[in-house]
Amino acid sequence: MAFNLKGRNLLTLLDFTTEEIKYLLQLSQEFKTMKRLGIAHDTLKGKNIALIFEKDSTRTRCAFETAAFDLGMHVTYLGPTGSQMGKKESIKDTARVLGRMYDGIEYRGFAQSIVEELGAYAGVPVWNGLTTEYHPTQILADFLTIQEKRGSLQGQTLAFLGDASNNMGNSLMIGSAKMGLHFRAVAPQAVWPAAALVEKCKNIARKTGATITLTDDVQAGTKDADVIYTDVWVSMGEPKEMWEKRIALLTAYRVTMDMMENAKDEAIFMHCLPAFHNLETEIGRDIGDVFGLDCMEVSEEVFESDYSVVFDQSENRMHTIKAVMYATLL
Ligand code: CP
Ligand code: NVA
Repeated sequence: MAFNLKGRNLLTLLDFTTEEIKYLLQLSQEFKTMKRLGIAHDTLKGKNIALIFEKDSTRTRCAFETAAFDLGMHVTYLGPTGSQMGKKESIKDTARVLGRMYDGIEYRGFAQSIVEELGAYAGVPVWNGLTTEYHPTQILADFLTIQEKRGSLQGQTLAFLGDASNNMGNSLMIGSAKMGLHFRAVAPQAVWPAAALVEKCKNIARKTGATITLTDDVQAGTKDADVIYTDVWVSMGEPKEMWEKRIALLTAYRVTMDMMENAKDEAIFMHCLPAFHNLETEIGRDIGDVFGLDCMEVSEEVFESDYSVVFDQSENRMHTIKAVMYATLL
């Protein structure tokens, strides 16, 4: 069944119904098949989109760009420096300027209120490519991956370990509530998602068969899970000083082989990436030296194991972002 999502913003998954999310995932699967078969799908020829990145990105930027090119669109990248936005020009004015020139706008950056304001004033679809609070396009890619690897979304148990109060914890909880998954935040109480959002998700969950559990018990939280998911312990925009605090708080929540073995036999390991799973990055080495660690949120063994589907998730960013742009622009 097709849905008319033309003109809609994607600011959080709270904006979309269960059926609309199902439709976007189905469309993503169709685009993935077309890409693999080499079938052209440049049906948005003549359209232009702007990509605003106030924070760094590999996957999200490349997914928006390659998806746009495949759809026949042109792209303008606006990085953290070089535009007037926020410095000499307000968000509201920037939204109205870009909305006169572009057919759609992606925003990655800081407060959710910024992408909300862009969405309110641009007059064209605005897509959230990550804010401090939410990362909705990532969840679509993750859910496509879970569907592919586990056969369905409904009834799957997803355990999220680490900083469950960040954009990924929040967004996976919302997505799980919408799509009928059993979401477990496995983390110390200090980094559980905010109570108001938990309540909102529990209300949604009542209609979809989902459940929301918050626990600091690693054994109970990972027991028989279908999906073990983690993310960085310190997110973009947080001060460097946070590392010491988070390492002390979260080392017991690092995803290890013991945890994977406590989950279901056919469980998968997921991470939105980038990940600190060894010392092959600048930050990984710096932090590793100071705190005597050779990995952070996930061990190298798990990351490189057969449990790991992290690069399938990365690829699916492109197919799902393509579906979002197509559905909201066509
Ligand atoms: N997962 C994700 O958003 O990756 P990037 O920061 O590379 O875009
Ligand atoms: N929580 C991470 C997600 C990166 C994709 C961050 O915001 O840095």
